[in-house]
Amino acid sequence: MVEEQATNSKIGAVLVVGGGIGGMQASLDLANAGFKVYLVEKSPAIGGVMSQLDKTFPTNDCAMCTLAPRMVECGNHINVEKLTYSEVESIDGTPGAFKVRVRKKARSVDPDKCTGCGECMESCLVRNYAYLKPLTPELLELAPDETAEIDRILSEHEGEKGALLPVLQGINAHYNWLPPAAVSKVSEALDVPLARVLRIATFYNMFSFEPRGELMVRVCLGTACYVKGGRRILEAVKRQLNIEVGGTTEDLRFSLETVSCLGCCGQSPVMTVNDDIYGYLAQDKIPDILASYT
Ligand code: FES
Repeated sequence: MVEEQATNSKIGAVLVVGGGIGGMQASLDLANAGFKVYLVEKSPAIGGVMSQLDKTFPTNDCAMCTLAPRMVECGNHINVEKLTYSEVESIDGTPGAFKVRVRKKARSVDPDKCTGCGECMESCLVRNYAYLKPLTPELLELAPDETAEIDRILSEHEGEKGALLPVLQGINAHYNWLPPAAVSKVSEALDVPLARVLRIATFYNMFSFEPRGELMVRVCLGTACYVKGGRRILEAVKRQLNIEVGGTTEDLRFSLETVSCLGCCGQSPVMTVNDDIYGYLAQDKIPDILASYT
């Protein structure tokens, strides 16, 4: 897309949309040909999907070896102006006189000073607090017995280095989820910022920020289980428990999730209920299996 201010005052600036491998190569070709290039990328950094790949089809070339030199060249090229974290809002005009409106999103860091160390993520309120419901006073209230229980868990790890994770595990084991009030109390007691507590807690899928059932049913939808009818097993469990994947029964007895492999593909299709493994499943076995836990 060529941006020209007027048909008779051609400035030869070019706008490239998308900072993936194609966008970067186009920008470099144009920049090397002498054009001023505006490279618009909606994510915070150029690189695109290829930066997440290991190898590329069909040559099996190392993705990063292809990508990295172009990223560096784009980053340093005097003719390429990167507009990252930006999106094209509108394009007006005609060939020879385009006008493009670009919205640049707020980064909340000074890009000139940013070294990409990632430390700001530790304190990122937006990212980490998003996992919690708005912390209303009721959500932060703890009954006296709950306070005592959390104090007990905290005292078990008093003075311990790296106490945060075992404390969260203790609370999770007690409640089967991490109530916001408990998380907030842990942050205060251990003098660890709440954003950091949440960053660590959200890293592990054993922690939940929603109440979960005492029994976790995990239905495997990995390749081996899928081809042997894992999807039908899942439907049978959903019917039996009357919940969707990610849901919990009203009596807080069962929760349901899917997994990609349980490590016993030879017995597929497989599901687990807490630590119990059920292999060679068929739909008609599901009601009896689940009934044995009620
Ligand atoms: S794919 Fe289901 S156990 Fe491996």
